[in-house]
Amino acid sequence: MEIKVISKDLTEYKCDAVIVNLFEGVKTPGGSTGAADKALGGLISSLIKEGEITGKLGETRIIHAQGKISAERILVAGLGKQEDFNYDKIRQVSASSAKALRNVGAKKIATIVHGAGIGGMDPKISAQALAEGAILGLYRFRKYLSEKPEEKDIEEITILEKDEKKVPEINEGVKQGTILANATNDTRDLVNEPANNLTPTKLAEIAKKIAKDFNLEYHDLNKDKMWELGMGALLSVAQGSDEPPQLVVLRYSGAESEEKAVGLIGKGITFDSGGISLKPSQGMGEMKTDMAGAAVVLSAIKAIAQLKPKINVCAVIPCLENMPSGKASRPGDVVKAMNGKTIEIITTDAEGRMILADAICYAKKLGLSPIIDIATLTGAVSIALGKSITAILGNDKKLVSDIIKAGEDTGEKFWELPLFEEYKELLKSDIADLKNTGNGTAGVITGALFIGSFAEKTPWVHLDIGGTARKESESPYITKGATGATTRSLVDLILTMAQK
Ligand code: BES
Ligand code: ZN
Ligand code: ZN
Repeated sequence: MEIKVISKDLTEYKCDAVIVNLFEGVKTPGGSTGAADKALGGLISSLIKEGEITGKLGETRIIHAQGKISAERILVAGLGKQEDFNYDKIRQVSASSAKALRNVGAKKIATIVHGAGIGGMDPKISAQALAEGAILGLYRFRKYLSEKPEEKDIEEITILEKDEKKVPEINEGVKQGTILANATNDTRDLVNEPANNLTPTKLAEIAKKIAKDFNLEYHDLNKDKMWELGMGALLSVAQGSDEPPQLVVLRYSGAESEEKAVGLIGKGITFDSGGISLKPSQGMGEMKTDMAGAAVVLSAIKAIAQLKPKINVCAVIPCLENMPSGKASRPGDVVKAMNGKTIEIITTDAEGRMILADAICYAKKLGLSPIIDIATLTGAVSIALGKSITAILGNDKKLVSDIIKAGEDTGEKFWELPLFEEYKELLKSDIADLKNTGNGTAGVITGALFIGSFAEKTPWVHLDIGGTARKESESPYITKGATGATTRSLVDLILTMAQK
């Protein structure tokens, strides 16, 4: 799908449908909507009067233009209350409108930039949000359907802007929004992929292809190299599976080589059965999502390579599978991580922290700082924060607040949980330096404390996307299934860091 920007009157643009908008409570539309109303002989105003168009957020009324303007149809999108309007509402309105028009078979559509006429709204950011909303909202994962239910697709969105001077900044916003939304959809594609097709080897191959296509440095570690480095924690998870583990590293160099690279570490468990501590069978299929952190990091660095900020970024992605077998680790086993710390495995289902422990040790060996890890680490995070909020914890207050701020830009919600020292007690083992679970309380915090004990003094932040990586309900621009959560915020963060 292509998004282009032109300077033209909206009544004169020939296409399948043109989108205008209305704030809740407005009786006489002005601006572009007013112009459309006038061309239609006051039809929009009379539908408002009849109560058929209210301007409520999410409302999408489609009217046939019957030759009165060049477009076949007009969609009046509700923007909600003016005082509540913000960039995220633009994403939502853009997504709802694009989906409504796809439903009626429209292929070429046009739109004005919602919020463009409102004081304080930036045309570039508004256009970015518009592009993001449409691309994210129209996402579908249909590659395994042999018969596509309906071949309806939006092929082209044209943004109509009367003021020619604004066209370049709107173009800029569209470009950035397109890269960010496509990156999120890349994450979704990877996470929706079933684990029989997305094996650790396949994930590593995809990473290698991205590195080649986007000019990133690439190296990987195989099992033998991991043994040499002493990655006993990661290998203890991999040993139950017939699929060989891989640790993938991609580096983007946008700044001087002596400048430290930001480390992005993504949990890449392509399937988490729980291992010998087998998960209950109901809903186990969801555990193909356990590589969402890896997908986020991979898609984010691909977007970064396209946006070319002046900063160094390095992705470290452990790719492996957690399976039960005669070779699998057992609860009670003690293993040694790369930094020499011994870990007692209480449950083989707390495997994410085991692989992140060694991935963080390796990231430190590479000199990466700060380190941000993204992981579907716990089920507990859904109990604490639900399916829309990512938990954020870390030893670097500034980085935590920068990520929360990035989330405000992107509409992704983060909530900080504390890393109070006293819960470290819960991870004390009788026979090893550490055990891999606490006592079942404060699961998100103890998981993060475990990982943090490997980051030690290195500035580090952990994002637990165990709740947000997948959703069973649909909202305007978050489609059902994999959400791609945190992809846009991480890219936004890196862009902001590069400007400082
Ligand atoms: N991958 C799971 C966490 C998870 C569960 C993410 C459900 C998304 C949805 C992780 O490896 C795991 O099993 N965590 C355990 C930790 C516990 C054993 C300390 C959990 O959350 O139950
Ligand atoms: Zn697990
Ligand atoms: Zn897991």
